[in-house]
Amino acid sequence: MTTTWNAEAYDANHAYIWNLARGVVDLLDPQPGEHILDLGCGTGHLTAAIAAKSATVLGMDSDAAMVEQSKQNYPAIEFVQRDGADFDLSERFDAVFSSAVLHWIPQAAWVASNVYRSLKPGGRFVAEFGTRGNVQAILSAIVKAMNGAGWHRTDDWTPWYFPTMGQYLSLLEDARFTVEFAQRFERPTPLDGGEDGLRNWLEIFAHRLFPEVGERDRPAVEREVERLLRPVLCRDGLWTADYVRLRFVARKAMRE
Ligand code: BEZ
Repeated sequence: MTTTWNAEAYDANHAYIWNLARGVVDLLDPQPGEHILDLGCGTGHLTAAIAAKSATVLGMDSDAAMVEQSKQNYPAIEFVQRDGADFDLSERFDAVFSSAVLHWIPQAAWVASNVYRSLKPGGRFVAEFGTRGNVQAILSAIVKAMNGAGWHRTDDWTPWYFPTMGQYLSLLEDARFTVEFAQRFERPTPLDGGEDGLRNWLEIFAHRLFPEVGERDRPAVEREVERLLRPVLCRDGLWTADYVRLRFVARKAMRE
C-alpha cells in the first residue's frame, strides 16, 4: 500500500480541521455504550472526541501513515486501515461518522452502500464534507497557475468530489437511507501558520494536484497560487480558506 499523506505535517499544522469539526461530533451526539465507526479518521483526534463520550469507537482510514499516527496519538483506541469505498467489517455499528473525508472519495455510491450495510437497523450516518463551491477560489488559482506554467488544466478540472446538496442527498436515498437533516453552509476557515498558512495547506492537501509538476517546478506554481490569492484570502498576514460544507444525518430503516 503506498502512503500518500504526510501524517506528521498534517498533525502539526492543521489542528483547525478537527477543532472546527466539533460541531459535527455534537450532531452525532454519541451515547455511552454506542458502537461507532469513524470513516476517514485521519490522525484520530475526532475519534478520541467520540470515545470521550464513553462510546466504543473504531477509527478507519485508507492511509497507512494516518493509521500509524492515530495509534501513536491514542493507543487505547482501535484503528484499522480500510478504504472508505470498499470495506466490509464484521461488526455492525450504531452510527458511522465522517468529517472532511467524503470529498476525497468520488465513488460516493459505493461509500453510501458500504456504510448502509455496516449499520445496525435504525443506525445513523452523520457526516460533514466539502460541497459544490468548496475551495472554489483556491481551485481557480491553482488552475490558472498550472496553465501559466504550461500544465494544461480546464476550468472545470478538480481532483476532489464536491457534489451539490441535491446530488448527494439523492445518492443517499438511492442507497436506501432516509435523510433526517441536511445543511449547506459557508465556513471561511482560518489556516494555521500565519504567512505560511496557504503554503502549508497546499503542501498537505494539494499533493495530488501537482504530481506531474515535480519538485523542481512546484515551488514556483505554489508561489503563483499565493500571489493570485493574496488579495482575496489573506488579511493582515492570516490566510482563510473558502470552505463550503454539507452536514447531514441519514438513517437506515429499522426493517428492510
Ligand atoms: C476540505 O474542504 O476540507 C478540503 C478540500 C479540499 C482539500 C482539502 C480539504
